[in-house]
Amino acid sequence: MGKDKLRKFAENLTFENLVQPEFDEIFRRDHALKGHWGEDFFGRRAPERAEKPIVLELGCGKGEYTVGLGAADPERNFIGIDIKGARMWRGAKTATGMGLANVGFLRTRIEFIGSFFGPDEVSEIWITFPDPQLKKGREKKRLTSPVFLAYYAQFLAPGGTIHLKTDSRELHDTRRVIEANGLPCEAACVDIYGEGLDAIHPTLSIKTTYERRFLDEGKPITYLRFGLGGRREFEMVYDE
Ligand SMILES: C[S@@+](CC[C@H](N)C(=O)[O-])C[C@H]1O[C@@H](n2cnc3c(N)ncnc32)[C@H](O)[C@@H]1O
Repeated sequence: MGKDKLRKFAENLTFENLVQPEFDEIFRRDHALKGHWGEDFFGRRAPERAEKPIVLELGCGKGEYTVGLGAADPERNFIGIDIKGARMWRGAKTATGMGLANVGFLRTRIEFIGSFFGPDEVSEIWITFPDPQLKKGREKKRLTSPVFLAYYAQFLAPGGTIHLKTDSRELHDTRRVIEANGLPCEAACVDIYGEGLDAIHPTLSIKTTYERRFLDEGKPITYLRFGLGGRREFEMVYDE
């Protein structure tokens, strides 16, 4: 492992805003913060933050969205989630430097997310430029596949929203999942900058590392905003 990665991993251990559970803290059991992020994580850092709604960014990479949303909206708490510690180091360090008490990071595989959040604990989810999983048979691994929507249904509050921002037309095809399951779709756009949607929704103009790369390649950026309509199970639309 490179020296730079080791330095970041060591510094990660010093950040108050980064949770990195051991595998046995969550394997087939609930993490101690499940259902208690308000009081035990945000409230410990700033008591007035304990009751604020919680927003997640899944696959946050360097955490640009989590930090950007947190800086723009002091009325909510934000948690960026990713498995890659060296990437999240950037977000945790930036949020620490900016003194953002409403921003935190969680290092875990999203497959374990049910161990971390309790019923109705989360009000909103952002999924920014997730891996498109294009190989045949990998569709179920997409963060918007019916398998993952069922995970999110365990903790997304009634009326909660999921935002998907991606360059991938295959991922934007989550529209098929939404339609097949009769989920409420609040916005669907195949080119947010072309259609000026970034001006209508200012938080859509926050740019991640991957987004900048795709914009440099001239790719249009798509956006979907939808809810889970109170459903717990979702029909699989992918071919077996
Ligand atoms: C293509 S990158 C996008 C990163 C960031 N959202 C951006 O736009 O710059 C996808 C990120 O998702 C993370 N990721 C993918 N699958 C994951 C999983 N199952 N659990 C946790 N993180 C995952 C990867 O580690 C990676 O940082």
